[in-house]
Amino acid sequence: MLISSFAQAGAQPLAQPAPPPARSADHGVFARDLLAALAVRPHAISPKYFYDAEGSLLFDRICELPEYYPTRTELSILQRCAGEVARLAGPEAEIVEFGAGSLRKVRLLLQAFERPARYLPIDISGDHLATAATLLRAEFPQLDVQPVVADYTQGLGLPRASGPGRRVGFFPGSTIGNFTPEEALAFLERAADTLHGGALLLGADLVKDPQVLHAAYNDAQGVTADFNLNLLARANRELGTRFVLEQFAHYACYNAPLQRIEMHLVSRCKQSVTVAGQRFELDEGESIHTENSYKFTVDGLRALARRAGFKPGPVWTDPQRLFSVHWLQAP
Ligand code: AVJ
Repeated sequence: MLISSFAQAGAQPLAQPAPPPARSADHGVFARDLLAALAVRPHAISPKYFYDAEGSLLFDRICELPEYYPTRTELSILQRCAGEVARLAGPEAEIVEFGAGSLRKVRLLLQAFERPARYLPIDISGDHLATAATLLRAEFPQLDVQPVVADYTQGLGLPRASGPGRRVGFFPGSTIGNFTPEEALAFLERAADTLHGGALLLGADLVKDPQVLHAAYNDAQGVTADFNLNLLARANRELGTRFVLEQFAHYACYNAPLQRIEMHLVSRCKQSVTVAGQRFELDEGESIHTENSYKFTVDGLRALARRAGFKPGPVWTDPQRLFSVHWLQAP
C-alpha cells in the first residue's frame, strides 16, 4: 500500500489534480495537496506540511510545554535504556533516523553506542538536515554523517549498509502515530526490509486518561493552536493565499473509539478561500482535518510490529506508563 498522506483514516483516496507550475518542488506538492484537501469533503491534509521553518520552531516550543509530556518522557526513557540498547546494537552500528528533528534523542544513543560508525538522518527538510549534520560532525568526529533528503513516507531509497556493524533504525517521538494503522503497517514492513539483520528503536505514545491527552494538545499558552494555524500561515507565505487566521479555530480532541487525537482547523464563519486561482467555500463550522496522532498499547504495538515482520524485543516505559520505547528486531 502506498503511503499517500498521514491524515485521514478510512477517507476516500484524494483525487489529485496535476501539480500546478510552482517555484519549487515543495511548494508544488503543498499547493497540490491543499487544493486536493479543499476539493473534497471532509477536508483533510497531511500533517507533514506543519513543518516549515516556522512550524518546526513552534513544534520545538510544544516539546517544552508542561502539558506536552511525550518529549521529556521519551528522553527520560532513552536515558535509562541507552546502555542496554547499545549492547543490543553492538559495536560500529549504523543509525538510520526517520525524520531529523530530534538531535537530543539521537545524541543519547551516539554517546552510549560503542564506536558508532555511521548516522543517516532522513528528512524532507534539507535545511534541518544540514544543521543536524554539521552539529553532529563537530561533536562526533569519527562518525560518518550522511544526510538523506527524502520523504520517508514515500519510500526509503537508502544507501547500502556499509560497515561491519548492525543497522539500527530510530523512529522516536511517536511520529508513527501520524500514520493510519494501515500506513503504519506498510511503513513498518518497509522498515523491516531496509533494516534486515538489524533492528528498529521505536518510540510510541500510549493510550491513557483522555483528559491527559486532551491537555497535551490544548495547552494553556496556545502554542499548539499556533502550530496548527501555521498551516494556513504557511500557505499565505508560500502560496499567496489570504487565509484570515482569526477566522479559524484550533480544535483538538481525543477520538477514543479510534484511539487517536485529531486536530482540526474549524471555520468560524461562512467564508471563501482562494488557492492557486481556485475558489472554495467553507461553511461556518466546517473543518480541515490537519492531523491524527494515534495512541498505542504496548501489546498492540508489538502485534503490529510482528505482523510487519519484526521480532519484538525489550520494551521500556516510564513509571506512569505514559510512553513506550520498543526494540524491534528485523530478522
Ligand atoms: C510529532 C506527530 C509526534 O502527534 O504529538 C504535537 C505532533 N501535534 N502537538 C504528536 C504534534 C500537536 C506530534 N508528533
